[in-house]
Amino acid sequence: MTATNKNAVDKGSYPHFMLKEIMEQPEVLRRTLAKGIASIEQGQLSPEYGDLRLGKYQKVLVLACGTAYHAGLVGKYFMEKLARVPVTVEQAAEFRYTDSFVDPDTLVLVISQSGETGDTLAAMREAKSKGGYLVAITNVAGSTIAREAHRVINTVAGAEISVASTKAYMAQLATLYLLGLQLAMDRGRLGFKDAVPYLKAMKKIPEQVEQLLAEQATVKEWAGRLAGNEHAFFLGRGLDAAVAMEGSLKLKETTYIHAEAYSAGEFRHGPIALIEEGIPAVILATQPELVGYTVPVMEELKSRGAWIIGILGADTGQAADCCDYRMILPATLPEFTPMPAVIPLQLLAYYTACARGNDVDQPRHLVKSVKDVK
Ligand code: M6R
Repeated sequence: MTATNKNAVDKGSYPHFMLKEIMEQPEVLRRTLAKGIASIEQGQLSPEYGDLRLGKYQKVLVLACGTAYHAGLVGKYFMEKLARVPVTVEQAAEFRYTDSFVDPDTLVLVISQSGETGDTLAAMREAKSKGGYLVAITNVAGSTIAREAHRVINTVAGAEISVASTKAYMAQLATLYLLGLQLAMDRGRLGFKDAVPYLKAMKKIPEQVEQLLAEQATVKEWAGRLAGNEHAFFLGRGLDAAVAMEGSLKLKETTYIHAEAYSAGEFRHGPIALIEEGIPAVILATQPELVGYTVPVMEELKSRGAWIIGILGADTGQAADCCDYRMILPATLPEFTPMPAVIPLQLLAYYTACARGNDVDQPRHLVKSVKDVK
């Protein structure tokens, strides 16, 4: 976006675009759902999804970078679970070094906020040359990625100015959930009626996100403590591991704190050696069937001196005792917790960056869209 365009989008009363864009997420979700759902009661999505005719694809490949890649990881869990189709998520910058199995039976999802990311473009061109069917999920209509794909689903996040992506990630998540439902229906794995509870749960997410956005003062308090640290860990299992990666990226790019994300299980295979007195760990435990495995890791971290911020699901309260600070998410289906769970993580990055006096919207060394390929 040029300087002139940037000025054309107003910060309004917000001190930074990042905060404004975080706060816009309920509306982004409402727009995405209004555009994507034809009828909740009939379990029917709009023609933008319905006309894709996804039933014939035997595998799915997701190509993306950064935050868009993290959205793809969430999509993988949902699509594999509901549609019973193998999903591979590749970092676009690495894709060209693999001799990947793309063929005409491969549905290739290309996710990019800007639609101009060089690595993603190069990867999609290669997948296209091998015969893959390309569906782009992009926030900029008419972008290069949108033009070169076979089909496009436009995310409706609106212009995203802050280098740290927030509302575009939320729009990508909601789009991937809808796409996952359509894929499951087209593959005969989910009847229209079975889609109804998912759509009803999705419809409630904007309001739940609003509830969490109202908790800014709480997150600001966490940020005040986190700002004094130079290292942090983000841990979770399953879907929570994917969201932990996004929380970690948000924190490092805005605050310059060295933040690492691991699955809570993998963390015990080496990285736990880095835990010492006073290290912060942000732990996501939103999945009822996994929390029993995460609690012992939290206990071990505490016993080794870490202080813990817990992002907990409504049904994972047993993790609360291990936390120094916690936020309990509103109740939703376990599959959908990434949408509310990322809100405190985005706010944490934002307020920690502010506390450290950083240029929040334009962090050092970064550009909004990495167009070149190196
Ligand atoms: O425009 P894109 O979605 O293709 O950009 C991909 C990444 O460069 C981008 O998500 C980057 O990681 C953001 N700065 C994350 O906040």
